[in-house]
Formats: sequence, C-alpha cells, structure tokens
Amino acid sequence: MSRPIQAFIDSSALTHNLNIVRQYAPQARIMAVLKADAYGHGLLQAARALKAADAFALLELEAAIALRDAGFCQPILLLEGFFSMKELAVFEQYRLSAVVHHDEQVLMMSASKHHRLDLFVKINTGMNRLGLAPKQLSSVIDKLTALQGVKGITLMTHFACADDPKEEENVRQQLQCFKSITQGYDYPCSLANSAAIVRYPETHAAWVRPGILLYGGSPVLDKTSLELDLKPAMTLYSTIIAVQQLKAGDRVGYGGVFKADRAMRIGIVACGYADGYPRHAPTNTPILINNQRSRILGRVSMDMLAVDLTGIDGAGLNSPAILWGDGLSVDEVALHANTVNYELLCALAPRVEKRPLQD
Ligand SMILES: Cc1ncc(COP(=O)(O)O)c(C=O)c1O
Repeated sequence: MSRPIQAFIDSSALTHNLNIVRQYAPQARIMAVLKADAYGHGLLQAARALKAADAFALLELEAAIALRDAGFCQPILLLEGFFSMKELAVFEQYRLSAVVHHDEQVLMMSASKHHRLDLFVKINTGMNRLGLAPKQLSSVIDKLTALQGVKGITLMTHFACADDPKEEENVRQQLQCFKSITQGYDYPCSLANSAAIVRYPETHAAWVRPGILLYGGSPVLDKTSLELDLKPAMTLYSTIIAVQQLKAGDRVGYGGVFKADRAMRIGIVACGYADGYPRHAPTNTPILINNQRSRILGRVSMDMLAVDLTGIDGAGLNSPAILWGDGLSVDEVALHANTVNYELLCALAPRVEKRPLQD
C-alpha cells in the first residue's frame, strides 16, 4: 500500500478498556459488542484483544461464524436475532444466541426443529426501536418455554438516552418499566450499554453490553475519554503529501471556502472522505501535525484535506498527521464534525489499511 494513510489498532488499549468496564461493573458478566467490524477496528484483532470478555455481541451472521471458526468459544449473541427459518439451523450449528424481539421470530422457532438456542428476549421499554411490547412478554415466554430444547432465556432492553445527563428521568422510566414487566420472572437480565455502565450502576444486572467504551470513546456527553481513563484503540494516521504557500486572499480547496487573511503555509494530508474522514468537518477541526495541535482548513475532499502549518515546528512534506487517536480524541473530532465518535470509527473505509500497533 503506497498511500500513507493507515489505521493503527492498539490491542493493549482494547484490553485496558475492557478492564475499565470490569471496574465499573464488577458483578456483571461482560458481553463485548463487536458489530460493524468491531466498530471499524477489525473483528478478529478486536476479539483477540477482548478474549477475556464473557461473551460477544454483533449482528452480522458471517462475522459470528468467523469468530467461531477462529476458535472463540464464549457465547455470541446476534443482536437482531435471526431473519429466516433457514438461519435457525446455522444458529444451532454454530451455537449462536439470538435476540427475540418480535412475534414472527417466535413463530419461526415453533415451526423449526432447530431451536436449541440461548435466547435474549428483548422488551421495548420506550426506545421504540426493537423489542416486544410489554404486554406481549408473558405469552412469548410461555410459547418459548413450551418449546423443547430452548436452552436459556435472558431478558433484555436497551436505553435510548443513557448518554445525556439531562435525560435521567427517561432512563429511570425505562428502568422502571423493565422492572415492573419482568417482576416475577427468575431469568438473568441485560440492560446496560456503555453509557449506562458508566452512569447507572443500578442497571448492570447479569450482563452488561459495552461497545464504544471498549474502543476508547466516551459514551457520555459530560465526560471525556481521558476523564474515564480510556485509551484510544484506533489511531488514524497519515502524512503531509504537499505543501502550499498562500498569500493573503488565497482560497483553499473545493468551493474555496477557506480564505487566507495573511500569508501562510498549509499542508495537504492524504486523508479524505473516501477514507472515512467526515466531509462536513469544518475549518478549525483539530488535527495533530508532527504531534502538535493544528486545524484543518476548508472543505474536506475525497482523498485529501488541508491543514494549517502556522507555528507547527518542523512541519513540511512527509510530516506525520494524526486525524484522531493517540493524543487527539475521536470524541473531539466528532464534536467538531457535528457527529458522534461511533460514526467516525465505523466509517473507516475498507481502503484504509488496518495495522496492529504492536507490530
Ligand atoms: C442492543 C445493543 N446493546 C449494546 C450496544 C452497545 O452500545 P454502546 O456502544 O453505546 O456501548 C448496542 C449498540 O448500539 C446495541 O445496539
């Protein structure tokens, strides 16, 4: 690969972040969420670094099979469950656990002989995305327990607003709803995503389901990843491949949206939106050049972006650029680009080579 852009994946950061999750939820078992190619970090490398997790969760069947084929033995939960009866045989063959979130899936299970599975029965407690209506729960449980061979049942829900300190009431309502519906059942429960792990210990229950925490992104709006003692698992790295000298009044890039108000040197970094960098990141979005903080200028193009070299010691052709990761939190870049850390990590393009940092 001759273009200099690379994503360095730090296994020790993943392992460190898993330990942070254990500190937050010492009584719970941890289901590490590896969907979307482990939030862009690469499924197998992430899984190896997180092998101490008690289970994995994702929603791509091929990825679940790849984990089994790579020798991982812990439970693997498919967060959207199965989509057809045909898949049930595959779930059974690979010992995959399934979320059951609507009636149709219960019918498929009843009609199939392949239902020796661990099931996570998901209840919609207010997010209105996936999940059974509360009043459906008892009849679904009756139908599932009537099936010979269903191995285990866990009750689960998902929070819509655990990241936002202003939404405590909403989380409490979802929690209250879950508690009142599941009262009387003696099944293990799973509620907490990363934000709830950090903010609401009372939601930890039997299983927590961290995603973004493991990758070193802050899951909450009012605390940085540094404050949570997380380490960035991905560093998106490139270099300066051209330098331009601007005069006052010169404009930069497509649309000429940045206009120099003085003479200045700028660098062109080999990273653009086709690499996964957000096109809507505006002028002043932070970037590290030669390990010093700088800012991007003008519009991000498909393969390149411009950066300010004013005051950056020793910066020039081939200087290293860190788009996010070590020394510059992806959370901060996301904030400037009016998006979230999740989106930036997941959007890393396949054309960007991922390399283990420890190589
Ligand atoms: C059902 C479920 N549980 C857990 C997670 C992990 O969320 P987070 O990355 O916020 O920890 C997700 C991710 O969206 C999810 O859909």
